[in-house]
Amino acid sequence: MDSPHKPRSFSPNLFFFFLLVSSNLLTFFISNTFKHSSCYLYQQTYNAISTASSLNTDIPLVVEPAETRDDDIQESDLDLPSEFRAFASPHKLPFGFSTNFDSDNIIPPVGHPCTRFPDLLRRYMSYRVNGSCPDDEILGQKLLLKGCEPLPRRRCRPAAQQEYVEPYPLPESLWTTPSDSSVVWTAYTCKTYECLINRVKSQKSFDDCKDCFDLNGREKRRWLSTKGAGLDFSIDEVLAVKKPGTIRIGLDIGGGVATFAVRMRERNITILTTSMNLNGPFNTFIASRGVIPLYISISQRLPFFDNTLDIVHSMHVLSNWIPSTLLHFLLFDIYRVLRPGGLFWLDHFFCVGEQFEQVYAPLIESIGFNKVKWVVGRKLDRGPELNEMYLSALLEKPLKNSW
Ligand SMILES: *[C@@H]1O[C@H](CO)[C@@H](O)[C@H](O)[C@H]1NC(C)=O
Ligand SMILES: *[C@@H]1O[C@H](CO)[C@@H](O)[C@H](O)[C@H]1NC(C)=O
Repeated sequence: MDSPHKPRSFSPNLFFFFLLVSSNLLTFFISNTFKHSSCYLYQQTYNAISTASSLNTDIPLVVEPAETRDDDIQESDLDLPSEFRAFASPHKLPFGFSTNFDSDNIIPPVGHPCTRFPDLLRRYMSYRVNGSCPDDEILGQKLLLKGCEPLPRRRCRPAAQQEYVEPYPLPESLWTTPSDSSVVWTAYTCKTYECLINRVKSQKSFDDCKDCFDLNGREKRRWLSTKGAGLDFSIDEVLAVKKPGTIRIGLDIGGGVATFAVRMRERNITILTTSMNLNGPFNTFIASRGVIPLYISISQRLPFFDNTLDIVHSMHVLSNWIPSTLLHFLLFDIYRVLRPGGLFWLDHFFCVGEQFEQVYAPLIESIGFNKVKWVVGRKLDRGPELNEMYLSALLEKPLKNSW
């Protein structure tokens, strides 16, 4: 087992922590400075980015806010749970310096905000090594959504079903509701799939993707309509944009129960689906269907190399609830992972009318995609007086000069 590390060995990490915090604060400060000018949001974003990067070398000169002073960190560092320090402190490489790592140690990654939530972190990292993990899915997700992403690894066994039932075989699994015994239900209001399927009728509260678990309802019809229905592009019309067979691998961001990936699988295309488990066992359900869930939030850098994916799709999730600077980074990340000629299908992006023209259309247009389809329509489900707009766009990363 690892020998316990002295807390001081954690401090090289903290230097980068300062850097990140202060560069974030700098960006924040700069974008706030422009808040009261007549600039639109997207201009703020650019100003913040261009100014921040030209000031990059000056970052250490920024006055450190009181809560990140050196002495405070040392104290809170001592408070960090021992399993957290055991994982996240530098680890000496057994064979010394490695040219691959350009170092003689490894510092395992955790989201830099993890240490801002010491109480949650302490609860999360309290367990018996080599024992059972607490049944604490809600706690883990809470930490993750606060920015502690990736979560630290743990040395315990996750809560599992008493009597696990193996999945249906393919292709049956794609459209069959799995057994209730394939899920650990502790974290969710519903305790059965039947409850999840019926909640659209029985529950008034808002739940993410409320009718998604009903595989015989709306899920059955999504992306199939072929009659050029405005904002609703069909998968086949999108694929027809490219040479047959050249769209092979991709990603669906915030893909609910992964019906998009299932439909693509039926066309021999491999799609990974990112999803959180917001009051429903989305990741377990996606895996039971036989496609791949990816448990990352919209804040996390996409875990793919540059210029690799043929298609990225996202419906409803990328919208105006995302802070515009974050959205700007996210769109560039999508651009990064798409190969030249790859497609970005932005499906039902929504915002209010004037934001669309002033902020989002220029923001999306600025990334450098070619427009293959661009359909704007009214969003009426919450009433016309809200003046909400939808955008469905099919965008292509240029085949040449994308850099
Ligand atoms: C770790 O846990 C496993 C499974 O419970 C057990 O078989 C093993 O003996 C334990 N190892 C140690 C070192 O405690
Ligand atoms: C998918 O691949 C299988 C095996 O190669 C092939 O038999 C099938 O026709 C393909 N389906 C489609 C829709 O291309």
